[in-house]
Amino acid sequence: MSKLPQLTINGLAQAVQLSERVHWIGALDPSLRTFDIILKTANGTTYNAYVVRGSEGIAVIDTVKEGFSSDFFARLESVARYDEIKVIVLNHLEPDHTGALPELMRRAPQARVYISQKAQSMLKALLKQDEFDYTPVMTGDQVSLGDRSLAFFHTPYLHWPDTQCTYLVEEQTLFSGDVFGCHFCDVRLFNDEVGDFRFSFEYYYAHIMRPFKDYVNRALALLEPLPLTTILPAHGPLLRDQPKKYVQRYRELSSAVLQSEISTGEKTLLIFYISSYGNTRRMAEAIYEGAMEVEHVRVSLYDLEGSEITPFVDLIEGADGIIFGTPTINGDAVKPVWDLLSSLAVINLKSKLGGVFGSYGWTGEGVKMVEDRLRGLKLRVPIPGIRIKLIPTDEEIESCREFGQNLAQDLLGLRQPRVIDMADLA
Ligand code: FEO
Repeated sequence: MSKLPQLTINGLAQAVQLSERVHWIGALDPSLRTFDIILKTANGTTYNAYVVRGSEGIAVIDTVKEGFSSDFFARLESVARYDEIKVIVLNHLEPDHTGALPELMRRAPQARVYISQKAQSMLKALLKQDEFDYTPVMTGDQVSLGDRSLAFFHTPYLHWPDTQCTYLVEEQTLFSGDVFGCHFCDVRLFNDEVGDFRFSFEYYYAHIMRPFKDYVNRALALLEPLPLTTILPAHGPLLRDQPKKYVQRYRELSSAVLQSEISTGEKTLLIFYISSYGNTRRMAEAIYEGAMEVEHVRVSLYDLEGSEITPFVDLIEGADGIIFGTPTINGDAVKPVWDLLSSLAVINLKSKLGGVFGSYGWTGEGVKMVEDRLRGLKLRVPIPGIRIKLIPTDEEIESCREFGQNLAQDLLGLRQPRVIDMADLA
């Protein structure tokens, strides 16, 4: 049976040795059930922080959430004196990693703080002061601790603009911040000792990193060439067994779009609708027919009643254009449409084409509401939504067909950009 890391002695928190010169000085938060409002944490989380001892001084890498400061300082004091601390590295300034920073700076005033260049304004806001010493760093910068050195890799938007990773060159160890982390609390700490955390790892990626896939790929281009014996993330298990496996998994997840039969040069257009009396469905079918008349656009039609949301989110991530059809009920678009829209925050929608249509009985606000939401999600909505009162006439069906055709042509860049009169949007 494996030996548990000794986290306390006589009730006092202790550092956990990871190598001759590296210790874990983080904190466990097993009771947490929701993180940042949106993330579920079924068995809590950890706030991982580390100490690196070099021949000419000590570096502290990240701190913990404020309420866990006493464990952090007790662990730090078990392996270092404050006057030995030369360097404080913050890979990311979110409060779960900087809660103990102001007090650490008070206790080790000689230590220099190293942050990414993008973190400067955040640090000032966090400390509520403008004048203090720190060193902004970028990819390629290093700091020496004598016989140990730390190299910095700027990895923006994983998942804040400020995020960076720090590499302990002599031990091939990556302090990765939130990257490769997950919310999983287990006193056994190491990935080859803890319970099965695959679900947490994937869930964390899906909610925290997936919206920034392009940035994940850019970060991987920096990190993949590094020799790695260990990855030490800011949350969850410490990845000492097969660390490259987690890098590879990020590569797979950030590359994945649904396999499709779409040939190069073709665009994909998805039409989602829901219909109470069949009127919005008739509009959807006419839009579908109109769009299909345009060559090199692959059009698909989906009734929102026919599927769970997750497969639709995956489809939308890989699509070039998305059109939503909603009736207006009680002055609003209907819940299945809002449910799908609210699930799209985890993917990058910027510059995808959007469109909206729907039938209504009295007022028809739903179409405009969804249109506003699409613009808020950074979709391009080149043609105002189309609304039809109750049962569409033949003429109105024809206008739907044209709407679909125009949007499909727009996807291919075949329509002139249209100047929208603000009055049309009122
Ligand atoms: Fe773990 Fe983004 O803070």
